[in-house]
Parts: sequence; structure tokens; C-alpha cells
Amino acid sequence: MNEKCSIGMVGLGVMGRNLALNIADHGFPVAGFDTDPLKRAEATGNSGGERICVFPSLAGLTEALTVPRSVLLMVPAGPPVDAVIGQLLPLLGPGDCIIDGGNSFYKDTDLRSQAAGATGVAYLGVGISGGERGARTGPSIMPGGPLQAYETVRPIFEAIAAAVNREPCVGYLGPGSAGHYVKMVHNGIEYGLLQLIAESYDLLKRGLHLSDDELAATYAAWNETELSGYLLEITAAIFTERDDLTGERLIDVILDEARQKGTGKWTSQDAMDLQVPLPTVDAAVAARHLSMNKGDRLRVAQVIHGQERRFAGDRDLFLVNLRNALHAATIATFAQCMALLRTASKVYAYGLRLGEIARIWRGGCIIRTQVLEQIREAFKADPDIPNLLLHEELGAEVSRRRQALGWVADTAADLGIPAPAFMASLCYVDGCASPWLPANLIQAQRDYFGAHTYERTDTRGSFHTEWESGTNNHQEGGENVRPR
Ligand code: 6PG
Repeated sequence: MNEKCSIGMVGLGVMGRNLALNIADHGFPVAGFDTDPLKRAEATGNSGGERICVFPSLAGLTEALTVPRSVLLMVPAGPPVDAVIGQLLPLLGPGDCIIDGGNSFYKDTDLRSQAAGATGVAYLGVGISGGERGARTGPSIMPGGPLQAYETVRPIFEAIAAAVNREPCVGYLGPGSAGHYVKMVHNGIEYGLLQLIAESYDLLKRGLHLSDDELAATYAAWNETELSGYLLEITAAIFTERDDLTGERLIDVILDEARQKGTGKWTSQDAMDLQVPLPTVDAAVAARHLSMNKGDRLRVAQVIHGQERRFAGDRDLFLVNLRNALHAATIATFAQCMALLRTASKVYAYGLRLGEIARIWRGGCIIRTQVLEQIREAFKADPDIPNLLLHEELGAEVSRRRQALGWVADTAADLGIPAPAFMASLCYVDGCASPWLPANLIQAQRDYFGAHTYERTDTRGSFHTEWESGTNNHQEGGENVRPR
């Protein structure tokens, strides 16, 4: 290939290769690099190969690019990203751009963009969702970093992204680590939704004793309703898959210990730092951790009995309530995570447009679901809405299903089936809708044992009581009792 390439791709593993093929299919020549010669060969061996040129060195790759050069990294998050940047920077110059397309931690992205920026090289942190298939056929793309650098690669991203109603599922999100932050929260939502669906499966399997065929049919039917989304679609398909080794359903020979790379945990951790409640995601992260100790679970099961009762009531009611509870909990999960994005946007000065994020998530990504259309509309109507539960339509959807959510939590507890994400979602909804909470007692207790002061309902300021001597209402000056 004599013509210069529009973009470089570093890392030709399955994600990098598929993205390279997707880019090449859209008419943009790609220069590829991987340390593994086999991966280099695979990248050119597939369709679109005539527009992918591979190089055995990064120097070869950078020389093949049009100026200003754009190099997309699809390497594992963490030290490999720093290693590649270290080798690339001496080969690039002012105006060139490094794009990290992996699931990098947003604070790493901030540090890397400062380091690259100091040499005049722009740095884009770009969340890419959709897995291997999405990378090949149309992912959802969440770019952040310098706007000018984004403009250079915008035509490529818009061409390769998934499209919904002809709108590409990509759009500039904000400066610095905005793109990777949004991708992290996307994954937090992914954790929440996966856990909710897993709990519904548990209730249907252990509570109603549905067979794999019945499970497949149930999820397929639910996917035709307001719950419709990619995760329900693949859930239905999973129950029909047979294992090559045993001929059994594959799902029944998969170990019940969930793994993780940690993006859900980062979301929970950051939400705690920002004091934004994210109980459904927290519960999902904890549930994965709990699942990993199967040995301990087997031992505790010998001590604590009485689990796994079969549901003896109305089966149709069970199914309807579970479906409604899943929808309410899904909205509650999005409400929590959008509230996190709203706060993060202010604290980190991202200037996020939440409606634009909902738009980008409607196609290509793992959490794409029908409710995102309503969420997008909600932010269109009021870009500053503090919580989606305040939106008339979404709030009403949850309100109508509040009883079902409570019923599912009750029934799960009664059957001895753990449903932490449903319960956390229920408590989030009830907590948000509580005009009064028992936090006055916590204020009093903190003041009792630690003289931390408290606020009153009738007067401004902070107060302290000598609780043991009964001396009341000494006003304390100046102390900021709201930790920030
Ligand atoms: C996506 C996925 C993708 C990956 C997660 C899995 O959007 O395409 O989120 O990024 O599947 O990293 O994360 P865990 O290993 O933490 O479950």
C-alpha cells in the first residue's frame, strides 16, 4: 500500500483487529502494529486486508501515517498502556495524537494526557463498548480529551460507530478523562444490570423451578416488552446453548463464581468519594465478590439451613411482579449512575451533557436498552434534572412498579434466595422518596460519643449537647459539619 494511512492501531488482539477491520471497511487505511507476528498476520488475513498494513515496529507504523498522526491503542489497561506511550512519544510530534481505546482508569488517563500534552502530543481517552462483535460491526464510542484532536478522528469514529436512526453512537463528551469516566460508569451500570438479571434468573430457577427452555422463553418474551435490551437478548440465547463436551446446556456446567477486571468497583469507589449513593452497583460488586468464595459458601451451607424453598403461590403473579421489578430496578440503576455523572461532571469540570451520553448508549454498547430513549428525552426536557426519578414519566414508571419491587424483595427473602441488587434498588427508591430519614439519630449519636455536633430543624448552625450531663444546645461556631 503506497498511500498513507489515516490511523495507526497498536494492539491487534481481538478488539484491536476487529476495530481495524471495521475502520478499513469504511475506507480508511489502517497501519497496524503488534509485538506478536501471528496477530499481525491475522489482521491482514481477514476481509478488508488490503486496507490494513502491518508493521513489525512502532517506527514503521508512525512513518506510514498521514500528519497529524493519530494512533489508537487497543492494549490491556494498566502498565501496557504506559509502556506503549513511552515508546510512541519519541516517534510523535506536536499536533499528533494518542488515543487510548481501552478500559483505563480515568485518573491514569489524566496523568497520561498531562505527560503527553507536555510534549505537544494530544491524548484522547476513549471508552469503546460492544465487545468483539461491536468492535467489528459498530461499537458505542465515548471520546474525551482535547476537542481539536477529536475533530481529526471524528470522521473515522462516526463512520465505524453503531447507528440508531442514522445517528452514530459517538459524540464528544468533554475534556481530560471525560470519555474514560463515562465508560467506567457505563460499566458500573453493566454490573448493576447483570446482577439484577442474574437475581431474576435465580428466582426463576430456584423459586419457580423453570427449566432452561422455559428460562429462554421467559427472557425472550421479556425482551419484547419495555425491558427490551441487549443483555436480555443474550440472556435468552445463553439458555439455549449446548455444551460440546457433555451435550448438557452450557449454562449448567459453568462455575458459579463471577470474575471481574474491576471497572464496577472503580465506579462504586468514585461514587463514595463524591458522596453519591450507588447502592445497586455496590451490591453488584459485593455479589461478585461473594460468589468467588464457593468453598466458604459450601461450608456455611452446612451450618445455616432452610434456604431454597420453592415458591408455592401464583406463578403468573410471580412472573409479572418479577418483570415489573426488573424494569423499576433498571430505571433506579440508571438514575443512580446518571446522578453520579452529574456530580462528577461538576467536580471534575467535564461539562458532560447527560442526554448526549444516553443517546450514545442507545446502540452498540453492552447496556443498550429501550429505556435509554426515555432517559434521553428526560434530559432533553431538563438537562439539569438532579435525579431521573424526578422525571414525570420515569418516576411514574417506577412508582407503578414499587409494589412489585417490594413483593420481589419480600418473596426472595422468604424463599431464602439472595437478591441484593433488587433490595438495594428498592431501598434506593424508598430512600429517595422519604421526606424523613432517621439520620437525626445518627447526628445525635455522633454528637453523643464524639462531640461531632449536629444541626437542628428550627435554627441554622451547629450545636453540641453534653449528653451525659444533659446540658443542651451549645451553639458551636464555624465547624463545617458536612464533610466534603
Ligand atoms: C464493554 C464491556 C467491556 C468488558 C468489561 C468487563 O463495554 O464492551 O464493558 O469493556 O466486557 O471490561 O468488565 P469486568 O471484567 O469488570 O466485568
